Amino acid sequence: MGIEEIVKNANGFSDFNPMQQKALKKDLFNKSIVVSSPTASGKTILAELSALNSILNNRKKVVYTCPLRALASEHFNDFKKKYSASLQIRAAISIGDFDSSSSYLKNYDIIYSTYEKLESLIRHRADWLQGIGVLIVDEIHSLGTDRGSTLEMVITKLRFFNKNLQVLGLSATIPNSKEIASWLNADLVESDFRPVKLVEGVFLEGTIDFGKRKEKIESKSDDIEALAADTLARGKQALIFANTRKRSEGIAKRLASLTSRQLTESEKKELEKASEKALNVLEQPTEQCRSIAALIKNGVCFHNAGLMQKQREVIEELFKKNHLKFISSTTTLAAGINLPAYRVVIPSPYRYSGFGMEKLPVSEFKQMCGRAGRPAFDSEGEAILIAKTDFEKDDYFDYFINGKIENIDSRLGIESNLRFHLLAAISSGFIFDLDSAEKFFSATFYAKQFGNLSELFRKITTILQELEEMGFVHSSEKRIDVTPIGRRVVELYLDPVSAYEITEGLRKNKFNDLSYLFLISNTSEFYPLLSVSRSRQAELWERLQQEKHLLPINVELEMFSDYNLLSKYHTSLMLKDWIGEVSEQNLVDSFNVQPGILHAKMQRADWLAYAAFELAKLLELKEHLPRLNKMRKRLKSGIKEELIYLCEVRGIGRVRARKLFNAGIKSIAELKKVDLLDLQRLLPPKVALNVKKQIT
Ligand SMILES: Nc1ncnc2c1ncn2[C@@H]1O[C@H](COP(=O)(O)OP(=O)(O)OP(=O)(O)O)[C@@H](O)[C@H]1O
Ligand SMILES: [Mg+2]
Repeated sequence: MGIEEIVKNANGFSDFNPMQQKALKKDLFNKSIVVSSPTASGKTILAELSALNSILNNRKKVVYTCPLRALASEHFNDFKKKYSASLQIRAAISIGDFDSSSSYLKNYDIIYSTYEKLESLIRHRADWLQGIGVLIVDEIHSLGTDRGSTLEMVITKLRFFNKNLQVLGLSATIPNSKEIASWLNADLVESDFRPVKLVEGVFLEGTIDFGKRKEKIESKSDDIEALAADTLARGKQALIFANTRKRSEGIAKRLASLTSRQLTESEKKELEKASEKALNVLEQPTEQCRSIAALIKNGVCFHNAGLMQKQREVIEELFKKNHLKFISSTTTLAAGINLPAYRVVIPSPYRYSGFGMEKLPVSEFKQMCGRAGRPAFDSEGEAILIAKTDFEKDDYFDYFINGKIENIDSRLGIESNLRFHLLAAISSGFIFDLDSAEKFFSATFYAKQFGNLSELFRKITTILQELEEMGFVHSSEKRIDVTPIGRRVVELYLDPVSAYEITEGLRKNKFNDLSYLFLISNTSEFYPLLSVSRSRQAELWERLQQEKHLLPINVELEMFSDYNLLSKYHTSLMLKDWIGEVSEQNLVDSFNVQPGILHAKMQRADWLAYAAFELAKLLELKEHLPRLNKMRKRLKSGIKEELIYLCEVRGIGRVRARKLFNAGIKSIAELKKVDLLDLQRLLPPKVALNVKKQIT
């Protein structure tokens, strides 16, 4: 059976769609291709075709890369289910741990990974990368986003290694796809085919205007509710995009009484079960957990970065089963995924930036709309903006619906990006003098777009000097070399400036917990920082003054040059409360940091503490090593030092460990001694049993 038949059978398709046929005609199997086509047009199938051809016919490995872990997982699971067993294809996913070459990956045929993890694999010289046949870049329009420079580097480097590398770039509809294709020496497949018709319209005063037709719906005092009720009446589901986390929660709450009336008995039962699951992801539920659980029971929920990963999964699953009728989400659900939303509703296409409210980019708007009407679930779809006035309605039509999608522009010229990637390119040997630098950067998308590199080289000269002053490179007339510490900075995936600040900080004398925590909050990796409300500023400044001797920076100097100083201090205080065992709910109340955000921040903090440990080791700053080691464990579990050992037992987190400790069980030895029945008085019976099993 040929590859095309295999893919059709595995997916149960009778035929390829016009976009896919176009790509097949363009020699998808032998050439680099860039596809620019609408959402839901079936680009993933092209990835499957190309991957299988490379693995089965050419015996070459494939790497699939995309911007989101969740997206990588979805595609990985899907691919595995369809092809792994039947064709004996070994598929792996690699999305974590940035300081590892993950050498086991060489045993796999297809590796799913995020842009960042792939860059980190290159930095660790994963040599199997040199022999891959196809690089599949999903959402290649990400070149123009904040993470774009990393993607640009990944592509440039892999093509540098391997002149015959085939690239399959999958992009949303963008105006300059030709430019991207030309950069990659690829054929361009452009298509406006969307298997499911998607109409975009604006809702105002009870009427949805789709341009060609208008639809009146039953009005209610609240626009979102009116659209939701109408969706339910058609037996459909909707995704509502809110522009803040708070609003996403508010919208779900507003819709709860509407959905709860529509649930069948069996739906209620399912929702009840799932609600329990979502409630108990932490040892001690926060108000947000309770709110999520209550909403789920009512057949609606919100979805944003403040939720724990498990809760998000529960919610997505319930929506797919049509048990939840609506999800109100921030952009966490805006790209790439397949959900059964007949409607997408966008109540306000604005977003906060540092300077007030601004319009969403048109491209992002189109991505959101594209979540509606997915072929696996619906035969049509609607995306609806809500306007308040006629003026706004006209503006939405002009700007968003009929507006021009933005060009994708290289982000490599931004100084911080350039610094980060220049050091890495020197460390990996792509660059060793100015000629090689020119050769390397000539192969970038930046060079394609700007034609000449003079502006870039002006910046590079300054950056090289900085890197030399920081001790990360060593350059002479003839050569540019990385220093051992510079090389480690690259492997640790650190911004050189952060690494420098960390090493300088570690050299200071006075160090306590706060000093380490500030060291972490003071890095660009830890952005965004927690904001400080105006009412707390005076008090915080005062406290900062009192503790300034503990901060591993020159506070007098930074007070005038670093306008983030107070937020950094505030953020370190949050970390300090976390390792002081302040409850998650209290952290929400005093720092406005939701469990999901807290969790993500702690993963970051752990990585930065690890990086600080590694740098201290290299610099022989030995006194920091045991302390940083403990700090990592404390950050991971949110505990005081005395609970470290108890928390190493699976099933015991900060709350349970504290309970045991207070009951006099302070060590593993004591945990071993106590009998099961007594332990079950302190811990949930099942947990107690598992704990006993682990330690005996
Ligand atoms: N030839 C086909 N026949 C029937 N269904 C198809 C065909 N090709 C793809 N599909 C279905 O279309 C849906 C959308 O496909 P996919 O997720 O690949 O879209 P996409 O182009 O990647 O969209 P996005 O830009 O939103 O990521 C999937 O459910 C897929 O199974
Ligand atoms: Mg896709």
